[in-house]
Order: sequence, then C-alpha cells, then structure tokens
Amino acid sequence: MTDKRSDDKKSDSSSANALWGGRFGGGASDIMQRINASIDFDRRFYRQDIAGSRAHCNMLMAQGILNEDDAHAILKGLDQVESEIAEGRFEYDASKEDIHMHVEARLTEIIGEPAGRLHTARSRNDQVALDFRLWLRDEIDALDPALAQLQGVLLDRAEEHADTVMPGFTHLQAAQPVTFGHHLMAYVEMLSRDRGRFRDCRARLNESPLGAAALAGTSFPIDRDMTAGALGFDRPAANSMDAVAARDFAMEYLAAAAILSVHLSRLAEELVNWASAQFNFISLGDGFTTGSSIMPQKRNPDAAELVRAKAGRVIGDLNALLVVMKGLPMTYSKDMQEDKEPVFEVADTLTLTVPAMTGMIGDLTANTAVMEAAAGQGFATATDLADWLVRELGLPFRRAHHVTGSLVKLAEDKGVDLDGLTLADMQAVEGGITEAVFAVLGVHNSVASRVSLGGTAPSQVRAAIAAARSRL
Ligand code: ARG
Repeated sequence: MTDKRSDDKKSDSSSANALWGGRFGGGASDIMQRINASIDFDRRFYRQDIAGSRAHCNMLMAQGILNEDDAHAILKGLDQVESEIAEGRFEYDASKEDIHMHVEARLTEIIGEPAGRLHTARSRNDQVALDFRLWLRDEIDALDPALAQLQGVLLDRAEEHADTVMPGFTHLQAAQPVTFGHHLMAYVEMLSRDRGRFRDCRARLNESPLGAAALAGTSFPIDRDMTAGALGFDRPAANSMDAVAARDFAMEYLAAAAILSVHLSRLAEELVNWASAQFNFISLGDGFTTGSSIMPQKRNPDAAELVRAKAGRVIGDLNALLVVMKGLPMTYSKDMQEDKEPVFEVADTLTLTVPAMTGMIGDLTANTAVMEAAAGQGFATATDLADWLVRELGLPFRRAHHVTGSLVKLAEDKGVDLDGLTLADMQAVEGGITEAVFAVLGVHNSVASRVSLGGTAPSQVRAAIAAARSRL
C-alpha cells in the first residue's frame, strides 16, 4: 500500500525539467511536484495560451527575430497541439507543471528544435498574465448576455405586474403599499450597475502584458503594439513590472461578482420568504423546487436557497485572492499561481446562479389576491392618511403624524383596519376629517398617488420599464 503523504521521494533524475534543466541535475521531489503543479486547473487556459503563442510567433517573424521556416513550423505545430487538446487526445503530466510548459513540451515533440525558439523574448510571467486576461475577458463577455436575460425577464414580469399591489417593507415590517412591478424593477437597477462594474473591469483589464518578459522587458527588438493589436487589446501595458505583477483585474472581477452575488442572494431570500405558507405571495413550480421525502405537503425552494448560499462562496473567493496578493513585493511570486482557482470557481458559480434566477423569476406565479390583501394589513396606508391631513386640512406634518398615530391605536383597539373606523371615530380624534378621507385609505389609491419620479404609481412603473427597455 502506498501512502501518498509519506511518499516524498525524489523523482527519477531523467524527469529533471527539460525547460530549465540546464542546472538542475536531480528531479523535484514528488511532494514538490504536487504542490508546484497548476496543470490541473490552468489547463483551462490552453486556447488563450496558444493564441498568445501564435501572436508572439508572428511578431517575432515580422521583426526578423525568427526566420520564416521556424515560424511556420511553430504555427503548424501549435495548430496540432490545439486540436489534440480540444479533442481530448493530449496527455497531461504533473511534472510539466503548467499549461505553458505542456504546450511547449508537446510542440518540441512534434517539430523538434525550432520549438525552442518560441520562448525568445518571453517569460511564463508575461505569458500567464496574458492568458489570464484573455480568459477573463471572454468570461466577462459571456456573462453580460446572461445578466441582460435576467433583466429581460424581470422587466417582463414587472410589466405584467405594474398594477399588482403588495406590501412594501422596511425592517421587514409592512410600511407602505407598493406594486410588485416596482419591487422587481429595483433589481433591474441593481443589475444595470452590476453590468457596468463588469464593463469597467473589462475596459481596465484590456491591456496586453505580452513583451514584459520576466519583469524588465527584453533586449530583442519586439513590437508590443503588434501583439496587443492581434490579441484584441486596446494597448500594451505601459510598465513591464506592473504587467507581470498586477492581478487587480482579477480582484476587480471578483469584487464585481461578489456584489452581484449579494444582489442575487437578496432576491433569492425574498423568493424564499414569499414562497412560504406564511407569506404565500408567490408559488414556484416544479422546475425550481424539490419535495420532501417525509413531508408530502412540502415544496422547498432549493434553487433560491442555493443562489442565496452561493454568495458565501463568491465572497470567500474574493477574500482568498485579496489575502494571497496582500503584501506581495514586486514582481511575480509563485504565490500568484493561487490566483486562478478562486476566479474559476466564481465564473463557474455565476454560470449557475444567474440562469437559475432567470428561470425562477420567469417561472413564479404571483398570488395577486394574497399580495393585495396583505398590502392593506398592518395600517399600511397610515402615511396616506397623514398626508391627507396635511393636504386637505392644512395640519403641520408632525401634528398629522400624531393624529394618525391616535387613529391607528384606536383601530388596533377595535381590531379593524384604518378603513374599518367610522367617520364618527375619526372626528372624535380630529374634528375636521370628512368622508373624503376614505378614498386614500384604499391600497390602490395609495399606490396610484405616488407619482413622484421613481415612485411606485403604476404610471411611474410603466415609465421606468419603458426607460429601462430603451436603455438596455
Ligand atoms: N504556473 C505559473 C502560474 O500560474 C506560471 C508562471 C510561472 N512563472 C514562474 N516564474 N515560475 O503562476
């Protein structure tokens, strides 16, 4: 029986790494290989790595640093390596550490000696920074349409429910009636800012580190504008040390992802609450719920609970990278190999949580009668009553607030809502009140009156939906 933990013997010296083997006679110990290897996760970069190598090779040829025969052999060999990996015919081996060395080693097997010329004027330090930026750029580009889809379904449901009245909460206490459409539109706004944060991140990361080499640049007459242009970057990164040392693009992505995940978790929490028997504001269908193996009556909102929970993972990943990077001196340190897994985990998480939320919002049924009945409970139109006293009787707001408080207390004592009080009850507290007050005590009148810009009146909600549709 072999116990891997106690198996820390030296590797066979014949496996001494061929890529820096010049002064390394013995092999790395097994445990060194295992802690050092990143191939299990950075293999995700293979397309970006090969695209970067192609751009570098073409530039070396254009600059006369590589002759055409060698360059063509390299380009042809890279094509073969790429299809071998894409088709699953590629052999990975932890002794070759990472994706950069795997590609080069295989290229050497295929084309021989010219493969050794590809790494001229380049280092794995600028190579990994390049691959990571290219990969993250693609990931951000793929996320944006998913977020737009979520906004789209929120807009559709908001339009459908522009008139549906529900309680609006502060402190999770019924505060004032709002419309369900207005509530959903709040998340459309949050998601617009989330998309903006990812756009900002993409714009800032879109500088090419290639040509920074190990950290100091190179003595070869390279053309960094050429490689930057070929790879779709806006410009080459200005400082070679920053180019290999910076990971703020990854931190910024994780920060934007953490904020997005907090938004998703807040909405998920609302779905969990609303789907409970106690609220019963919405019903979720079979697509996003599970049953209980013991309680036949149950329908559990598992997808919403998991979206709520996965924010924890994303926040943790942001924290992990911040702590890895904190205090690292210029420029590259191997610590930075730990930068990738948090980002991969977050990207994978978002490919689940965003579509899951889109699905749930599209799938939910609003129990509009329950929402509306709840909107009238808890004296939710007390502010409307106070506003009426100010508007119609000219009371100072503080006095109106006090009068309304007395009426709420009276209603509470009588076990009725505000509109269950008689006119005589009201006049006993404030003599000037007339029959007309009852019009503002209904929840529909209450929401319809909130016509201020950004308010919950159905007319405002429809205007907000139209504005968002043309903006998005
Ligand atoms: N696998 C390494 C990483 O992910 C690549 C860069 C290695 N550079 C170095 N100087 N050892 O960070």
